[in-house]
Amino acid sequence: AAPLRVGLIGFGCVGQGVYDILRRQPNAGAEVRRIAVKNPDKVRSLPAESFTYHADELLADPDLDVLVEVIDDAAEAFRLVSTALRHGRRVVTANKAMVAEHLAELVALQQTHGGTLLYEAAVCGSIPVIRTLDAYFGQEPLRSVSGIVNGSSNYVLTRMGLDGADYAPALAEAQAKGFAETDPTLDMAAFDPRAKAVILAAHAYGVLLSPAQVLNLGIENISATDIAYAGLADQKVKVVAGLYLLPDGQLTVLVTPQFVSSDSPLYAVDEEFNGVVIEAEFAGSQFLRGRGAGGHPTGSAVLADLAALRGDFRYAYAKLGAPLSYTTDLELKIYL
Ligand code: HSE
Repeated sequence: AAPLRVGLIGFGCVGQGVYDILRRQPNAGAEVRRIAVKNPDKVRSLPAESFTYHADELLADPDLDVLVEVIDDAAEAFRLVSTALRHGRRVVTANKAMVAEHLAELVALQQTHGGTLLYEAAVCGSIPVIRTLDAYFGQEPLRSVSGIVNGSSNYVLTRMGLDGADYAPALAEAQAKGFAETDPTLDMAAFDPRAKAVILAAHAYGVLLSPAQVLNLGIENISATDIAYAGLADQKVKVVAGLYLLPDGQLTVLVTPQFVSSDSPLYAVDEEFNGVVIEAEFAGSQFLRGRGAGGHPTGSAVLADLAALRGDFRYAYAKLGAPLSYTTDLELKIYL
């Protein structure tokens, strides 16, 4: 089959990762045909004529098979992606804030106009966690999904634990390595993992939450002393996104720092790595681990979505439940 012709919107860390992987792998089944960026004055790794500065042109270009949206600005990302879906287009995005905030509308647009949106790269970078949850969904109940889903805060916690480093220099390192969001508060105050928890809840339990309904506590107030204290009891401090099904059928979703003991698979998930433990009714416990941030790992998840689109893959939205009725902010009735 002819390679998918890709329109790339955004050429930051993830956009360059996607571009570089496809350049190195001419037989990957996709090729970047056009690239749209916002700022004409920025010095870039490709000549200026490689870019257009009008992303909207790509949305209507009939010579593109797929749009890959990897910009930072969640509001503009939603405008571009929703417009593309209204045209029935196939779109891949890595923008977790945008997907978490607008998932209901994005699902409805696909159902109305026949387009497809995939976003494996939005949660846990290289780990195929959404596709794994989709495979379980509706087949067997999941008792819990719990994971380290933010690479930057995990990197900072690891550095603080290893050498007693202070918070600020450890954060500067995470930023320099390209793991952190442009506004690092999103990582450190756990807004980024909260968005990912919302997406996980949709794919694990069929619930559509708004991010504001999920408690998020970050690591700004955690000190090297706290981490040393945890170490005395053979524990580490980790920010865990937890989705727990209670025995009465209610679901709790929250993102908080937790003490993780050495018998948990999450204990060994350090640096920018992410890890997710899935406890399924019949399959038992499963553990996925991989790089959760950075251009190449996140780009590899975009490539997985492109490969899925070649096979006409779609998420299992047909199984999404009826709209939820809420008991409290944290405890939600679920419909399977
Ligand atoms: N800032 C995010 C993180 C990037 O640190 O995990 C990947 O979503």
